[in-house]
Amino acid sequence: MKKIMIALSMILAMPSMAQKTSDVTLHMDEAKQKINKEIYGQFAEHLGTCIYGGIWVGKDSEIPNTDGYRNDVLQALKDIRVPVMRWPGGCFADEYHWQDGIGPQENRPRMVNNNWGGTVEDNSFGTHEFLNLCELLGCEPYVSMNVGSGTVEETAKWVEYMTAKDGPMAKLRKQNGRENPWKVYYIGVGNESWGCGGNMRPEYYGDLYRRYSTYCREYNGNRLYKIASGASDYDYNWTEVMMKNVGHRMNGLSLHYYTCYSWNKSKGSATDFTRDQYYWTVAKCGVGIEEVLQKQIAIMDKYDPRNRVALLVDEWGTWWDEEPGSVRGHLYQQNTMRDAMVAAISLNTFHQYTKRVKMTNIAQVANVLQSMVLTKGDKMVLTPTYHVFRMYVDNMEAVNIPVAVNCDTFTAENEREESGRTAPYISASASKMSDGTVNVNLVNADLDNSNKVTVKLDGMKGKVVNARILTSKDMKDHNTFEVPNKVVPVDFKGAKINKNGELVVDMPKMAIITLQIK
Ligand code: AHR
Repeated sequence: MKKIMIALSMILAMPSMAQKTSDVTLHMDEAKQKINKEIYGQFAEHLGTCIYGGIWVGKDSEIPNTDGYRNDVLQALKDIRVPVMRWPGGCFADEYHWQDGIGPQENRPRMVNNNWGGTVEDNSFGTHEFLNLCELLGCEPYVSMNVGSGTVEETAKWVEYMTAKDGPMAKLRKQNGRENPWKVYYIGVGNESWGCGGNMRPEYYGDLYRRYSTYCREYNGNRLYKIASGASDYDYNWTEVMMKNVGHRMNGLSLHYYTCYSWNKSKGSATDFTRDQYYWTVAKCGVGIEEVLQKQIAIMDKYDPRNRVALLVDEWGTWWDEEPGSVRGHLYQQNTMRDAMVAAISLNTFHQYTKRVKMTNIAQVANVLQSMVLTKGDKMVLTPTYHVFRMYVDNMEAVNIPVAVNCDTFTAENEREESGRTAPYISASASKMSDGTVNVNLVNADLDNSNKVTVKLDGMKGKVVNARILTSKDMKDHNTFEVPNKVVPVDFKGAKINKNGELVVDMPKMAIITLQIK
């Protein structure tokens, strides 16, 4: 770790503690692509305490719950209008046998969660518990099938169990207490099939995808959207082979992109990091993911110029060392202002690629990686990342307004990269809602300087009706069970429309601001 920290060097101008200026130009006439609500998707895996303790406590728990789901988490998730939830993994999906998770709880077999700490899984949260949760939240379920160690028959029967009105699987479902089929649209056919999902080559997986997906049938009018396991980060060959060999047989191809220093060495502390590491992170999640999206999309454009296959970033977010004292393999990490920056900058970036990117799922919803909420017993805290999702909520289903940003940049390096990555201090996105309200989302990642941002509204007239800011004194600030409200958004008063009709925003250093103009 020490070595990495030394190797992380910054080519940054020394802090000047001055106010900088920047311009953001909105291109209203190019606003055509809707920001699919699924861009704000979540991911819940049987991993650590994401499901057990984080969402599900069981009906007999003393923790206030509705049918076994903890009330505080339910409310928090309703407040960010979760549009879609991916489940049961992740790596877990390729070892999961769904028939173990149905029927009377006391009869459900136990299994070892080999991917995540060898924890014993009692299968008390299964298909019914997940799909009922989605109904409670009003979100779309996204169910990942087991291609790595499961059979085609298992996959076929699972789809039938969930969605058929009649037939043997529907009969079994009814016996287990659910008369009507659920509505399930998103079906994942394997996960990370190049790694934990079976260590396959894309040619082999492509054939398996074709086979498994054939037997995912559409019962009584239920339409399925079939998603193939896609590349990780810079694996362009995987995408090339999948597009060439599978093409329009898939509705979506996934992509996983984690903001992580290194897969082989220490990933660094979630709460104790240097300024250099902060800036490296900002660059990795902003221009880093943008470069990967552009290259992956260019390959897809070649095979699919009519944009029929979507790119779904169905795992993204920060991945730090596990919190000291937490269970090894449970991926429990804290969440600071730095993570909030990653959330806001990534969302701003995804907005720009909505023509091809139709869904993203931050990893994960509770107690794992860059989570929305952390829980301990009956306590829950909302993370800085959660607050970003809440501040951005009105961008869902609004039409993206392309933006051009003119601002200072910084360059960050780490030992894995041949050359430094140059990134802007200011990140922005904008969108137009159906009632004409314009959302403007701004990030000033600068740790030292405030920034007067002039947003050129391209002729739009209106006034600021709502403005919120998320900031804090220190980049390491975070919320704990003892101090749950250290990093929370508040109303922002530093924005006005000037006489030229421009929106002028006095952004403090290290701040995320969302504004609505009507
Ligand atoms: O999100 C944690 C893990 O990261 C997932 O299970 C896997 O798909 C990825 O490697």
